[in-house]
Amino acid sequence: MPRVSVEVDGVKYDDDVEPRLLLAHYLRDRLGKVGTPIGCDTSNCGACTVLLDGMSVKSCSVLAVQADGKDVTTIEGLGDGHGLHPLQQAFHEEHALQCGYCTPGMIMAALDLIRENPDPSDQEVREGLEGNLCRCTGYQNIVRAVRNAAGAMRQSPAQEEATR
Ligand code: FES
Ligand code: FES
Repeated sequence: MPRVSVEVDGVKYDDDVEPRLLLAHYLRDRLGKVGTPIGCDTSNCGACTVLLDGMSVKSCSVLAVQADGKDVTTIEGLGDGHGLHPLQQAFHEEHALQCGYCTPGMIMAALDLIRENPDPSDQEVREGLEGNLCRCTGYQNIVRAVRNAAGAMRQSPAQEEATR
């Protein structure tokens, strides 16, 4: 059985894994990172999005062995333990969630989007998050939350840096 060495949310793990184990299942079932939900089985919904070496990936379309030697950040790795990350704060303030199932993936995808484009327009947010589906909100509040968070992160680059 292959062995993986991976850092998840700042903690190092070494585990033997089945070659076909998906990263999403490794995170949830082996590490207890249930903040990363699984919303489909076909790489459609984006709910399972995490950062792999800083780039957003759908963790249901990545094998755990492909994360060997890499850093994974999940929604549980954001914030500082005392306060919310600006994206979490903005989603809260702008009512950018209802059932919340899509929210971890939306936030992780938005983090990568803002890293690439610190001041995205409405249209750029919509295009950047087109791989993440929400069945509840109608998206407008999500777009507003992402743009507000981007503004907050431009004001506080140290916070942005801490989550890279
Ligand atoms: S669970 Fe990964 S894209 Fe839906
Ligand atoms: S808030 Fe329910 S799926 Fe997005």
